[in-house]
Amino acid sequence: MSSLPKIKQKKKIAVLISGNGSNLQALINFQLKSHYEISLVISSHPNVLGLKKATQANIKTLTINHALYSSRADFDSQLIKVIDGESIDFVILAGFMRILTTGFTLHYLGRMLNIHPSLLPKYPGLNTHKKALEAGNKEHGASIHFVTPELDSGPVILQSKITVNSDDTEESLKIKVAIEEHKIYPLVTDWLASGRLTFSNNQVLWRGELIAKPFSFQELPWS
Ligand code: GRF
Repeated sequence: MSSLPKIKQKKKIAVLISGNGSNLQALINFQLKSHYEISLVISSHPNVLGLKKATQANIKTLTINHALYSSRADFDSQLIKVIDGESIDFVILAGFMRILTTGFTLHYLGRMLNIHPSLLPKYPGLNTHKKALEAGNKEHGASIHFVTPELDSGPVILQSKITVNSDDTEESLKIKVAIEEHKIYPLVTDWLASGRLTFSNNQVLWRGELIAKPFSFQELPWS
């Protein structure tokens, strides 16, 4: 018999991936203790490691191969059809390497999160570790934000910081940031599923109150 308290009426989430799925694995590992259940994993690329991780956890998987669609709009329409067909409550982007159409982002406005490997608004887009090194930043990290139409620009909910040392490389930063990502993504997904975290007028609300700035993982009372 499990010693964990049973959480009734979990929210259904779909996790969208394109590759490795290490954040997906972190979400899987936290699932039992959370207010969410991963009902579906969708990959934009076939045969990726993340799909195997989902299958091993007995989660339904689907590949919607982006290369088989002639336009972003067609690809996104298929995604919506599948996600809504499963009555999903929240969409969690976890290394999903596709630029989404405005229509898609608005369809899930306030119900879709992304994780990004930088301290947004610094370094939207790719090569964030390289950019942090080139800029000589002493701090770097990861951000979780609600997804809005502009890439990596939705309101930030929580950030976790790491220190950049003089001997850090792109690879070492990637590893350090990933460790933080795996702590914070399940946590914030749980906040969303539990109803404590909401979105209104392009802003983040915590227990119904606007937050003035993103939470810092290092400054959370319980971290
Ligand atoms: C992570 O760095 C995440 O921030 C970014 O894509 C990467 C996904 O890694 N959006 P994984 O597939 O979860 O291992």
